[in-house]
Amino acid sequence: MTDDFSEQEKRGFYKAIYSRRDVRSHFNSKPINDEILSRILHAAHHAPSVGFSQPWNFILIKDMNTKKKIKESFEKEKKRSSELVEEPKRSKYLSFKLEGILESTVNLCVTYDPSKFGPFVIGRSSIPEAGLYSVCCAIQNLWLSARTEGIGLGWVSILSNDTLREVLDIPEHVIPVAYLCLGYVDDFAKKPDLETAGWLPRLELKDVVYFEKWNDKENKDWESIQKMIKENLDYA
Ligand SMILES: Cc1cc2nc3c(=O)[nH]c(=O)nc-3n(C[C@H](O)[C@H](O)[C@H](O)COP(=O)(O)O)c2cc1C
Repeated sequence: MTDDFSEQEKRGFYKAIYSRRDVRSHFNSKPINDEILSRILHAAHHAPSVGFSQPWNFILIKDMNTKKKIKESFEKEKKRSSELVEEPKRSKYLSFKLEGILESTVNLCVTYDPSKFGPFVIGRSSIPEAGLYSVCCAIQNLWLSARTEGIGLGWVSILSNDTLREVLDIPEHVIPVAYLCLGYVDDFAKKPDLETAGWLPRLELKDVVYFEKWNDKENKDWESIQKMIKENLDYA
């Protein structure tokens, strides 16, 4: 059995997971040192990918003019999406701070290029979305690595991909997957902002784990773990 993480290393790993937050406000202006930024990008680049296709690219952005154009797209899309929800939720939604594009020191667009090492990629023929999933794995690596370095990261998806393509010169066949805002913060919130604001609660683990078949939440062959899942024993 391989158990090459010490107890302390395991704690550190889970600490990153449980204390990671989506950060939209309270970025401070401390610059991100290039060595740290490159460490975070290396962590992202070591994510798993379908058929080892590594279909991601990372566009680093600090130009204020670019940021302003992206922010404009955010404002437009936020207004447009608010029309999809009725009052009083609409006003509540509009009151949320949902991006930190201008305040964060570095913006980062992560893209998916389906043509990389293609067209045949091992494992992607039956589930083409596996390529996109791989990019999300890279983003999660990046997010956890940033948290470990004390850097906040916020994912902004209230944006037009057409605008991202146009402003960032992204070719037609490449899909923008994530627009991320990175910067130091004085503090990481204990809970998701949307939980604190009473928008949605965190679901109980017991309500999302099934045994053997869809929706089977009680199964006597899984009794012991069922109990632990109900007790919400996490490693935070
Ligand atoms: C794919 C994706 C898109 C998201 N888009 C936005 C966004 O546009 N604006 C925002 O404020 N947060 C966005 N978030 C952050 C979520 O709201 C956040 O992850 C969730 O509320 C849980 O909070 P936590 O990340 O702090 O645990 C996004 C997260 C993901 C995974």
